[in-house]
Amino acid sequence: MGFLEVQDLKIHYPIRGGILNTIQDYVRAVDGVSLKIESGKTYGLVGESGSGKTTIGKTIVGLEKATSGKILYEGENVTNKARSRNKKYANYNKDVQMIFQDSTSSMNPKKRIIDVMGEPMKNYFDYTPAEIKRRVAELLDIVGMNAEAMYKYPHEFSGGQRQRIGVARAVASDPKLIIADEPTSALDLSVQAQVLNFMRRIQKEYNLSYLFISHDLGVVQHMSDDIAIMHRGRFVERGPKQEIYQNPQHIYTKRLLSAIPDMDPTKRASQKVERQRVEAEYDAQEAEYYDENGRVYDLQPFDGDHMVALKPDEPNSSLQNETINTGGEA
Ligand SMILES: Nc1ncnc2c1ncn2[C@@H]1O[C@H](COP(=O)(O)OP(=O)(O)O)[C@@H](O)[C@H]1O
Ligand SMILES: [Mg+2]
Repeated sequence: MGFLEVQDLKIHYPIRGGILNTIQDYVRAVDGVSLKIESGKTYGLVGESGSGKTTIGKTIVGLEKATSGKILYEGENVTNKARSRNKKYANYNKDVQMIFQDSTSSMNPKKRIIDVMGEPMKNYFDYTPAEIKRRVAELLDIVGMNAEAMYKYPHEFSGGQRQRIGVARAVASDPKLIIADEPTSALDLSVQAQVLNFMRRIQKEYNLSYLFISHDLGVVQHMSDDIAIMHRGRFVERGPKQEIYQNPQHIYTKRLLSAIPDMDPTKRASQKVERQRVEAEYDAQEAEYYDENGRVYDLQPFDGDHMVALKPDEPNSSLQNETINTGGEA
């Protein structure tokens, strides 16, 4: 059993308009996705901008509301309960934290790092000021920063340092799951690698699970155990990492894979040719992989836990006739 499970989650936003400002339609930001995150593992969520990744993460931590579907934490239904004042969900709020691309945007610029990081410690553990100081120094050390940093303000740090502070702050509440939404997307490649290394280190140290969100399949590859590929608010494919990378089935997954830049510069030219081939294949086959409204099909089992959104087989018409309920009328 996954310790966090999302079942058929939908998040629709009304679009209002007209002179009466009535609901005209809905943005189907997330339109029926299911996933299971295992304890101590990383679930990679990949897709282009606008596919619905952030909305899933925000709904898990209660920053958005689910329209339908379920979120289960250790078997308990926590759908739309995060951030509620009900004591029953206090553990959930503590255990599940989210970090964003720019973690300082959610930090009060007038607060020093010790106060920013000390907040969850005060809220959840009743730490004394001396205990907070010791623990903040410990966490800063874990993410490779000097204890002196605790007396500075968020804007005094570089992007990479700020993301490390963001990770350290998320860890301050002693969580079990961190939702990391593009945590390294704004960073240079070398700094990116540093932050990812810290994330992996603390994962082992604290037996953390991650929901690792990125538009970059290359980054997710190094971090994840399981992967879901998202497009237009739905999953086109999901499964164990090696299945997704070595045996991709959906045309959109293949397209994302071909876009990962090869680290070997001598291979770039041949990669460019390959990418153009996959792009042409995508254009030619798109109609087979999406329904007439451009919607991603439902997932079907492909091989074990490897699921792919493929067009359902045409129903066998003779069988269909046989199963029509005639109601026993004379
Ligand atoms: N509060 C909102 N109201 C209306 N539409 C929204 C809202 N939040 C997100 N969306 C839309 O939902 C879709 C998915 O957004 P998002 O989850 O941010 O995608 P991603 O993180 O994959 O880039 C986008 O089309 C976005 O414009
Ligand atoms: Mg996003």
